[in-house]
Amino acid sequence: MHQLNRIETGVPQTGADDGQVFYRVFHSVASRPYNVANIELFLAISVLISNRPVRANLYLIKTQPGVLFFMTVTYSSYLKVDELLKCQHPLSEGPEHDELLFITIHQSYELWFKQLLHELDFLIRLFNQGEQNRALHTLKRVDSIYRTLIQQVDILETLTPLEFMSFRDRLSTASGFQSYQFRELEFLYGAKDAKKLENYPEGSEHHQRLQKRLESPTLWDAFLGFLAGQGHDIPDSVLNRDYSKVADPSKAVQRVLIDIYRNDPLVSEICEALVDIDTSLQQWRYRHVKMVERTIGSKMGTGGSSGVGYLQSTLFRPVFPDLWAIRSEF
Ligand code: HEM
Repeated sequence: MHQLNRIETGVPQTGADDGQVFYRVFHSVASRPYNVANIELFLAISVLISNRPVRANLYLIKTQPGVLFFMTVTYSSYLKVDELLKCQHPLSEGPEHDELLFITIHQSYELWFKQLLHELDFLIRLFNQGEQNRALHTLKRVDSIYRTLIQQVDILETLTPLEFMSFRDRLSTASGFQSYQFRELEFLYGAKDAKKLENYPEGSEHHQRLQKRLESPTLWDAFLGFLAGQGHDIPDSVLNRDYSKVADPSKAVQRVLIDIYRNDPLVSEICEALVDIDTSLQQWRYRHVKMVERTIGSKMGTGGSSGVGYLQSTLFRPVFPDLWAIRSEF
């Protein structure tokens, strides 16, 4: 067992997190730098400090010969709350009271977009591995997130046209139109459009991310691959299509889907969960355009489009058209 000479505790000098405790541990291995493999030493310190041999209770922040500096993990340190709360910077003078809401809601959307990409990438892997139960579970989670996103439009609808006008000029050309995560999601669902890449400088990280999504199989491709793996007759031309293009609706796929609805309850539940997501995507677009209409009327968008007219042209376009085409066949 290592000899621990002394432990001092105190609050950290930096950071506003008052829940965080800082430990300075003096030990006998004076000249030896800390070694991650030295788990025995770590556990000894952990027991001394927290009475529990739980390594996760503490994290090492720096080392000096003979001294180790630790902090406990707290709510704020784990979630980086201080950093997060420093990311809202209204641009209006004052600033205008309502600008914070506008920033907060967009940032929370972007966080959910990140989570959706995380879930959908996982879902594609599940389809590739044929794990249908977990795929269904993940699809339900994705749709729950969308239902939350649709509801959040309620909050923005409390922003009156006058309130929005109090800071709109400051947005300059910034628009949700430029949200690269939203475009990634579109590509992932199958709404591929190489022109959308033009909004991001070539070579930039955002451009590269979108380029990769453009060339990758979509959620629908992964689902059809899963069906093929189950022995369904999905044509090779459908499975090995050019992924950078929108997939054409396929009568052969629709025949397979009709058969699944009639004979395979679990996979037909997966199909219905995909329809739930498709419906939610369209509902979000509808709620967004109505919110935009009541806030800016027929004005142009900050992103340079005609505004409401442009947004209306994106309505009622399903991402999984084959699943809609079969509805009248039963
Ligand atoms: C007062 C609030 C909002 C207004 C007035 C507004 C207005 C608009 C307008 C006019 C457009 C068309 C593009 C343009 O020319 O700018 C647009 C597009 C878009 N907005 Fe909003 N928006 C608002 C809030 C939001 C929020 C909270 C989000 C969430 C991320 C969002 C996401 C998007 C997206 C993704 C597009 C692109 C849609 C597409 O191209 O299919 N918007 N918005």
